[in-house]
Amino acid sequence: MAVTVVKSVADVRKAVKAARAKGLNIGFVPTMGALHEGHASLVRHSTKECGYTVVSIYVNPTQFGAGEDFDKYPRTLDADTKLVDKAGGSLIFAPTDREMYPNYRGADGTWVDLVGLTKQLEGASRPHHFRGVTTVVTKLFNIVQPDKAYFGQKDFQQCRVIQRMAADLDMPLEVVMCQTVREANGLAMSSRNVYLNPEQRKQALCLSQTLTKARELYARGERNAEKISAAMRELIASHPLARIDYVEIVDHDTLASVAEINESSVAVLAVFVGTTRLIDNGYLK
Ligand code: PAF
Repeated sequence: MAVTVVKSVADVRKAVKAARAKGLNIGFVPTMGALHEGHASLVRHSTKECGYTVVSIYVNPTQFGAGEDFDKYPRTLDADTKLVDKAGGSLIFAPTDREMYPNYRGADGTWVDLVGLTKQLEGASRPHHFRGVTTVVTKLFNIVQPDKAYFGQKDFQQCRVIQRMAADLDMPLEVVMCQTVREANGLAMSSRNVYLNPEQRKQALCLSQTLTKARELYARGERNAEKISAAMRELIASHPLARIDYVEIVDHDTLASVAEINESSVAVLAVFVGTTRLIDNGYLK
């Protein structure tokens, strides 16, 4: 295998320094593991644009709330290593909690907290989620010091939050948002799809189907956001195993709900299928 797995910050720094000395630019794909084709496409995106690609695999405890799936989140380092290797990644950073948070005691520590963009949508259901994400991503950016970092559009709000954080804090890198990768039936690839049984998997298709429905209405000239989101809700409600957390049409910069849809509008939704919470989104144009 060409890919190397390291567990310490010092080893990442050493490897990145050596790559830079060879004149290579550094691409970075932060993940929580349980990798799938969506992650592979991020790695390939990076290897196309960067000479050296680092992938982090770390289930970050600070972005999970009480009662969320931190303990049962799938951990599959061997399979993940093979996938990264096949996609052309150069280095995997798979740290322990001790390595990532040696000085933190409970909430005592330094946090990166973006005030705007984080309280609505995912933030409304998961109050400290984005503070955990922005903190760990800042730490990972400081460790890897990439030129470019790649995130999937499936986590649209996360991408916008990280892009805003990088701009606000003058982080010297480009945050690239890559298209969501879907199964042939439309289901957005997600590490959490493994929680679904066959019937739930079928019903989970309602997420991408509502986006198709919203696009059809938009293409027919509908611009009223409430009418489109009502049609989306109705479609989800016809699936007995699905329960809406939120369905909204928002502006892609502010993430605020819009009344009138335009080219910057994105439909975003979170739906429980059984006990699994799934998210999806799409531009309507
Ligand atoms: O999208 C994810 O997998 C995580 O939120 C990230 C960006 C790796 C931070 O832990």
